[in-house]
Amino acid sequence: MNKNLTYKIAVLPGDGIGPEVMDGALEVLKSVGKKSGIRFNLSLGLIGGVAIDKKKDPLPAETLKLCNESDGVLLAAIGGPKWDKLEPSKKPETGLLKLRKALDVYANLRPAKIFSGMEKSSTLKKEVIKDVDLIVVRELSGGLYYGKPRGIKKVRNSHQAVNTMSYSTGEIERIAKVAFEIARKRRKEVTSVDKANVLECSQLWRKTVEEVSKSYPDIKLSHLYVDNCSMQLVRNPRQFDVILTENLFGDILSDEASMLTGSIGMLPSASLGDGVGLYEPVHGSAPDIAGKNKANPIAMILSVAAMFKYSFDLEKEAESIEKAVKAVIKKGYRTPDIMESGKKLVGTKAMAKLIRDEL
Ligand code: IPM
Ligand code: MN
Repeated sequence: MNKNLTYKIAVLPGDGIGPEVMDGALEVLKSVGKKSGIRFNLSLGLIGGVAIDKKKDPLPAETLKLCNESDGVLLAAIGGPKWDKLEPSKKPETGLLKLRKALDVYANLRPAKIFSGMEKSSTLKKEVIKDVDLIVVRELSGGLYYGKPRGIKKVRNSHQAVNTMSYSTGEIERIAKVAFEIARKRRKEVTSVDKANVLECSQLWRKTVEEVSKSYPDIKLSHLYVDNCSMQLVRNPRQFDVILTENLFGDILSDEASMLTGSIGMLPSASLGDGVGLYEPVHGSAPDIAGKNKANPIAMILSVAAMFKYSFDLEKEAESIEKAVKAVIKKGYRTPDIMESGKKLVGTKAMAKLIRDEL
C-alpha cells in the first residue's frame, strides 16, 4: 500500500467509557501520524445510546454511510442502563450488530496474550497462564445473532421466544480459511470449537472445517466441544494457538480467554471482511466508571494498532504502538483495573499520555 495516502477513519466513540478511551487512542494515533508523516483524516459518527438520544436510531444512516466511505472504522463501546429497557430493535447493541452485518465483517479476531510484568494480575495461577498466547477467531455475521425466525410472541396466556442458529457451508468455509491463514503465521494449530454432539449447525461446521483443512496440510486441526473448551481454557490455556468458533460460542469464550491475561481492558479486536475493517476493544462501555478518568485506554489504543496492521498494512507503525504499551506496563504504570501493590496508579488520560510519550 502507498504510504503517502491519506487514510480516512470513521471514529465512533459511543457510550460510557467509550469517549474517554477513544480520546486517548486518538492522541496516540495523531502522534504516530506526526512522526511518520502519514495523514489520517478523522470523522466522528454516532452509534449506540448517544445515537438513540440524538437521532432516535442506534445506527443512523449517516453513520453507516461514513463507515462505508472510510478506510477503517474505530469503535469504542456502546450501551448502558439508560437504554436497557428499550425494545430490542431500538437498543444500542442493535446498532453494533447492524454495523457488523452491513460491513459484512465476518471474522472477529480476539488475541489473548499476557504482557510481561502482568502475570500477577490474572485471577489464575501464574503457572497456568505463563506464556499464554492464543487468538480466538470468532464468526461474526451469522449464527444465533442473526438467524431467522426470531422474536417473542404471545401464545395463549404465556409467551414464547424463538432464536435460530443457522450456518451455510459458505459462511463456515470463509471463516475457517481466515483461521487457517492466521495459524500459518503462528504455531500452525487450529482448534475448532463446536457442539457437534447436539447441534446440526455444529455437525455441518465440523464437516466443513475438515474439508477446508485439506487445503492446509501444514496446519494441525483438532476439534473440541464448547463445554470442554471452556474448561480447558482455565485448566491449560497454553495448549491453544488459534481457536476457531461460531458467533455465540466465540462471544463467550473470548471473554473467558481475556481474563487469562488479567484484564479485559487490555484486549483489542479486529473485525474483518472483504471491505472496510472494524476495530473495537473486547470490553464494554463500563457505565459504572464512565467519566471518572478510571478506564483503561490500552485495548482501544491497541485496536488502533490492529487497524494499522490489518487494514492499512502499516506494520511498523502498529509495532511502535505495541512496543510503547509494553514499555509503559514494564515501567509499572497501571490503571485501576490492572493495579497491583507496588505499581503506579494512573488514570485514563495519564496512561494515554505515557504511551504517546513512549512512541
Ligand atoms: C462483544 C459484545 C457484543 C456481542 C454485544 C455488545 C452485542 O459482547 O463484542 O463481544 O455480543 O458481540
Ligand atoms: Mn462479548
